[in-house]
Order: sequence, then C-alpha cells, then structure tokens
Amino acid sequence: MGFQSLPFPKFPTFFIVLFFLLLSFNTSKSQNLLRRGSSLSVEDASDVLASPDKTFTCGFYGLGQNAYWFSIWFTNSKERSVVWMANRDRPVNGHGSKVTLRRNGAMVLTDVDDSVIWMTNTTSTSAYRAELLDTGNLVLTNADGKILWQSFDYPTDTLLPNQRFTKSTQLISRLGKGNYASGYFMCYFDNDNVLRLMYDGPDISSVYWPNPDYNVWQNGRTSYNSSRIAFLDEAGSFLSSDKWQFRAFDVGFGIKRRLTMDYDGNLRLYSLNNLTGSWMISWQAIMEQCKVHGICGRNGICVSTPEPKCSCPPGYEVTEPDNWNKGCKPKFNRTCSNSQQLKFIEVQKVDFYGFDLNYSTATSMESCKKLCLDDCQCEAFSYRLNGEGLCYTKSALFNGYRSPTFPGSIYLKFPVSVEASESDSLNGSNPVCQESIIMMGSPSMYDTTGKRVRWIYMYWFALAIGAIEVIFLLLVQEIPLC
Ligand SMILES: *[C@@H]1O[C@H](CO)[C@@H](O)[C@H](O)[C@H]1NC(C)=O
Ligand SMILES: *[C@@H]1O[C@H](CO)[C@@H](O)[C@H](O)[C@H]1NC(C)=O
Ligand SMILES: *[C@@H]1O[C@H](CO)[C@@H](O)[C@H](O)[C@H]1NC(C)=O
Ligand SMILES: *[C@@H]1O[C@H](CO)[C@@H](O)[C@H](O)[C@H]1NC(C)=O
Ligand SMILES: *[C@@H]1O[C@H](CO)[C@@H](O)[C@H](O)[C@H]1NC(C)=O
Ligand SMILES: *[C@@H]1O[C@H](CO)[C@@H](O)[C@H](O)[C@H]1NC(C)=O
Repeated sequence: MGFQSLPFPKFPTFFIVLFFLLLSFNTSKSQNLLRRGSSLSVEDASDVLASPDKTFTCGFYGLGQNAYWFSIWFTNSKERSVVWMANRDRPVNGHGSKVTLRRNGAMVLTDVDDSVIWMTNTTSTSAYRAELLDTGNLVLTNADGKILWQSFDYPTDTLLPNQRFTKSTQLISRLGKGNYASGYFMCYFDNDNVLRLMYDGPDISSVYWPNPDYNVWQNGRTSYNSSRIAFLDEAGSFLSSDKWQFRAFDVGFGIKRRLTMDYDGNLRLYSLNNLTGSWMISWQAIMEQCKVHGICGRNGICVSTPEPKCSCPPGYEVTEPDNWNKGCKPKFNRTCSNSQQLKFIEVQKVDFYGFDLNYSTATSMESCKKLCLDDCQCEAFSYRLNGEGLCYTKSALFNGYRSPTFPGSIYLKFPVSVEASESDSLNGSNPVCQESIIMMGSPSMYDTTGKRVRWIYMYWFALAIGAIEVIFLLLVQEIPLC
C-alpha cells in the first residue's frame, strides 16, 4: 500500500539513474585511508587504497574463475606484480567478500559467507585507520599515528626497499605461474644466523644457497652475528647481518625495486623500467639455474640447454608428465640380490646432491663400486676425479643436475637384465620437459598479457553484472507498481 503512493521512475528517469549508477561504477574512488568501521568490497574494482604517490595499490586482486586475494601491487607495472597477500592459500569469492576495519580494531577479511579468512592481531586495540604508505607498507595506526600492525612484518614472496627482513620473517615462493599459493622455495635466516635458500618440498628439503659444498666462511658469510637482520635500501644495496651483501647493477635512487623469491627457486632483485612498465633483473642469487634443488623431483636430472629442462636418467621414466615434482620412476624392479646380478651405467657430468650413505676420499673407482654393490640401500654412486678419488654412495637420488664443470659421473645401479645405456637420454629433448620449462619459467613470464586481458574482461564482466543488478533492482521495484 505504501508503495502505491511512492512516485516511481518513468522510463527516461530509469535510464538516467542507470547512467549515473554506471558512471559511479566507473569513476575511481581510490582513497588513501580506510577508517575504523568502513570496508573495501570485492565487487567494486575501484574500491582500493592507493599510496599517496600512487606507486602501490591495495585491494582485491582476482584471477581465474572466481578467486580473489586481498593484496598490494605495483600500480604502474605492465604485468600485475603482487608484493603482498593477506592469505595466499585461501582466495575469496568474487561476490560478497570484503575487508573491514572493525570497530574493535581488527582488520578482517571475510568471504561471501562471512567466514573470517584472515585478520590482524589488533583486536581490542585503538587501531583507528588503515593506510597504504609510499613504501608499499599497509599500516594500521591509532589516532596518534602509532603503528599497531604493518604488512611489512608479514612478507609473502617479496621484500621491498626499507622492509626489514628478520629472524621471524621468510620469503616463500608461490607455487607456480599464476598460482599464488605457498610454494616450495624459501629464503630464511637459518639457526646458525646465515641467510639461506631452501627447497622444502613434499618429499625432501634441501638447502642450495649459499653453495652447500662450501662452509660458511668459504661462502663469505659469518655465523657469529645473531641479530639476523637484512635490509634492501632505496638505492638497491642489500646488506645482511651474516655479511652477505650485493648491489643492483643499476644501483642508484629513483628506481622502484623488489626482491622476490621466484617459483623457479631463484631469488631475484628486479628494477622497474618506468617508461615501459616492465621488470628487469638487476641481481640474482643462482647463476646456474640447475643448481636449484628439487626442481626435477626424485631421480630427475636438470639439464641446461641453456634454459633448464628436466630429464630422466637411462632406465627411468617420468612419473607424472604434468608434474616434475614427482620426478622419474625406475622401469625395473630393484633387487637386493647377489652382486653378480647387478651392473652400473655411467652418466657423465651428472651428480645428485645429498643422501650420501657414505663418503670417502682417496678411493679407487673399483672400491667405490664395491661399496655400492655391497650395500643394498645404495642406488648409485658418485665418483669425482679431481686430484683424488672422491666416492659418495647414494641412498636416494634427488637434486640431480648436469653441469659441464662437474668433474665426475654418477654410476647408476641396475639389475643386469635391464637394457639401458647412457646415450638413452638427457637430450633435454623430452617434450614433457619443454612443457615444464614454461612452468619453471624465466622472469619475463609473470602474468602474461593474456591474464591482463582476462582481468580487464573480468572488470567489464563485473560492470555488466552491476548493470544487470541495477536493472533487476529497478524491475523488482516496478513490478508491484505496474
Ligand atoms: C602483532 O604481531 C606482531 C608480530 O608478531 C607484534 O610485533 C605485535 O606486537 C602484535 N600486536 C599486538 C597488538 O599484539
Ligand atoms: C651485526 O649485524 C648488524 C646488522 O648488519 C650490525 O649493525 C651489527 O654491528 C653487527 N654486529 C656485529 C658484532 O658485528
Ligand atoms: C624514471 O626512472 C629514472 C631512472 O631510471 C628516474 O631518473 C626518473 O626520475 C624516473 N621518472 C619518474 C617519472 O619517476
Ligand atoms: C616388477 O615386479 C612386479 C610384481 O612383483 C611385476 O608385476 C612386474 O612385472 C615387475 N616389473 C619388471 C619390469 O620386471
Ligand atoms: C663408511 O665407510 C667406512 C670405510 O670407508 C666404514 O668404516 C664406515 O663404517 C662406513 N660408514 C657407514 C655409515 O657405512
Ligand atoms: C637423443 O638424441 C638422439 C639423436 O639426436 C636420438 O636418436 C634419441 O632418440 C634421443 N633420445 C631421446 C630420449 O629423446
């Protein structure tokens, strides 16, 4: 009855309203502050926080079908470069999700069903506003400007200039190209105060940087400074309390940079070209990409061609063509039978790192072979001839790589019935491996233009849905009236 008396929009009014609604949808309402009690909504792509100099943007970043992350990214890079995420392992729905600075002081990310996906530890504090600083740091401050929480304390895979890296922080790579979930590579301060890179996968974990063949001193580090602090300054110099330091090759002020633990296991410093919006590598930890551990899985061998590819040794085949983390499996049954029925096949310039049953120096090739024959657990032995014979018997084959500079070979143990020879493989020509190269990726492969297109498409899609909703709302109002 009440409705009847309301003046209802005639058709021209309807279009004018629609027009203005669409307009308001389209205009940027990016802001610097989020005040206590207010929120950012996932539905409105312009509902973001911008840093005062516009270098960084904070808001919902969407990818794929319906996955959104509350994130911080560089506003002006050509490809979306996310530097921080609230809960990378749990994206939220593209509808009804929001991040709110609640009246109790906590900043909370909620999904469409109001379930809490992430929150800051500022409940019952006087947190008064959230603000994105020019450094890329999202901070919660009280009315006096005191910082109660900051995103810089919780890095994901990226360290920004002025962000302190400490004993309680880690950089963890994402899982892969376009997959923002926590991956297997990690940069952290070890118990002995040394900054390291480690592969921490489903089967094994293994440190690969600094060079695990050398000790702390030989690697130019120290373990005697327990402050465990590292810092990238605005000019592109990095200094760590373990004495590790490096400079960007384009060292100097005025360039935007980020240090990222990439999903291929390399730690890289990037500089933004402010004309093209693309990233350039200005330093990287690993020169030979195949020295990264874990990339080709169990029994797999990383081969530089020169870009890294995965291969299986002779007598082995790939376990899951789409997933090199699963490595290679033997095409034969291992037996522990009498050593008369076992043989070795040499694969030159190849080594598998770690899993040594034993290690002996000044050993002849024949006695090394015998050590492996006599030990049922031994799957292979590595023999190096640099001055003296170095013999390592292996209980498992992980972190395999071929390097032209490796002064030796791996000798794989087989039952005599197996027909395999060295020439069988390691061409790196395995098409499956080529597939995985794309995955392991060179740094230029982040968020291809394809994805940007999708992003824009999704924006328009959101607009369209918005428009449909507006029409629907008006129709719903009009139906009882007509
Ligand atoms: C929140 O956690 C950070 C890091 O663990 C800590 O420094 C800070 O004191 C905590 N804040 C509150 C209000 O508990
Ligand atoms: C330990 O490292 C920190 C940070 O680099 C430095 O300020 C401090 O002087 C170092 N302490 C010693 C004893 O060298
Ligand atoms: C672009 O980068 C150069 C350094 O590469 C810097 O000198 C210049 O000020 C930058 N321009 C802007 C607009 O930031
Ligand atoms: C390995 O052993 C299993 C069962 O013991 C048998 O079915 C299979 O054929 C054997 N494979 C080879 C290559 O001998
Ligand atoms: C390692 O080899 C040496 C002889 O080279 C032997 O004495 C020792 O017991 C072996 N250790 C293990 C754990 O097999
Ligand atoms: C390796 O290359 C040789 C010659 O190019 C070819 O005959 C052989 O089939 C290749 N092996 C594999 C496993 O691709």
